Amino acid sequence: MQTFLITGGAGFIGSNFILKARKEQWANIINLDKLTYASNPLTLAELQDDSGYNFVRGDIGDIELINNFLDQHQPDAIINFAAESHVDRSILSPQDFIQTNVLGTFQLLEASRAYYEKLSAQRQKQFRFLHISTDEVYGSLTQTDPAFREDTPYAPNSPYAASKAGSDHLVRAYYHTYGLPTLTTNCSNNYGPRQFPEKLIPLIILNALNGKPLPIYGDGQNIRDWLYVEDHCEAVYLVLQQSSIGETYNIGGNNEQTNLAVVEKICALLDELAPKPNFHYSSLITFVKDRPGHDRRYAIDSSKIKQDLGWEPKESFDSGLLKTIQWYLNNSTWVEQVQSGAYHTWIQQNYGDRKAALSH
Ligand code: NAD
Ligand code: DAU
Repeated sequence: MQTFLITGGAGFIGSNFILKARKEQWANIINLDKLTYASNPLTLAELQDDSGYNFVRGDIGDIELINNFLDQHQPDAIINFAAESHVDRSILSPQDFIQTNVLGTFQLLEASRAYYEKLSAQRQKQFRFLHISTDEVYGSLTQTDPAFREDTPYAPNSPYAASKAGSDHLVRAYYHTYGLPTLTTNCSNNYGPRQFPEKLIPLIILNALNGKPLPIYGDGQNIRDWLYVEDHCEAVYLVLQQSSIGETYNIGGNNEQTNLAVVEKICALLDELAPKPNFHYSSLITFVKDRPGHDRRYAIDSSKIKQDLGWEPKESFDSGLLKTIQWYLNNSTWVEQVQSGAYHTWIQQNYGDRKAALSH
């Protein structure tokens, strides 16, 4: 069986990928993660007795560690999920985003290049470096613009998006300049189990269950293209197995929703799954000050991955949202662990001012 090095595997998408990879026996996994605020030790606890899974705490920017790590573990592929991933945090403190997303990816590429050059010709043929990126690198669409394609020009608007765009360009350059066999995927908004509750969907679910306001930035008419996380993981595996090297693929849910519609859907589902007498969760909806530089609309044209690799999302938004809410209802210990002191500090930092601004 092959061995994959997964970076950032203790976060939302990486952990879902690892759980699926082990369940479906895609590969043995070594997970290298710095364990920032966005990870939770409980996330992968069910793999503790799995001999095909190993965890190492480390930073993708620590080149000495990565060099030794690659020599020791000899992976057949590297999938780089590691990143600072939350747009609002990138607005309040961009430094960490440049550090991990740009410089960290650069160091990981350097180590991968050195490792690749030492591999036998046979292993070089099989080796892949797959970089996980985002649709935010393409910027913002109007209502009538066509959806993002792989050849849409990059126009990032937030420090997060700019740092991801920078990392995508480096990955591209390492393919063209050094022949490192890279692949890049640019995906739309994911949702599902194990997502840190700073992101819209889990934040709304948990605030609602706790009777707290449900903050909607601006007029709530910004649009995102939502994809269930397991569909994303399957697309990544398919690209890794079947794509020609140097390719990029857009991955999306074909599921554009306004933020207000998403929040109202969650409220309606909670009215059924966790009803309270004489109360509708939608009464907690609160419009707050907008995110600076808030991209209006994202939409992905997935026709290339559909045509080349036959991938399509399997989950509908209704069924995916139901599964997601049920997961949060059934995993209160996981929720308590991530809502630690640091989480409260973040909520105060991000939402304290927004409320104040509204009351003026
Ligand atoms: P996340 O924030 O949930 O997890 C990121 C993980 O990376 C965490 O476990 C963290 O500890 C780890 N990490 C951070 N800095 C690191 C470093 N320097 N070295 C090693 N590990 C480090 O993120 P996510 O939502 O799972 O996103 C994963 C990837 O997918 C990111 O690259 C993100 O840009 C991309 N992406 C996310 C979405 C989405 O909707 N969440 C959509 C498209 C693309
Ligand atoms: O498009 C892919 C991207 O999706 C990923 O690259 C990012 O890592 C991921 O965080 C996500 O970015 P968004 O900014 O789109 O996701 P977020 O969940 O933060 O916000 C979704 C929408 O909801 C966005 O328009 C902002 C809005 N929002 C968000 C929060 C946290 C609110 O209205 N209120 C909120 O409290």
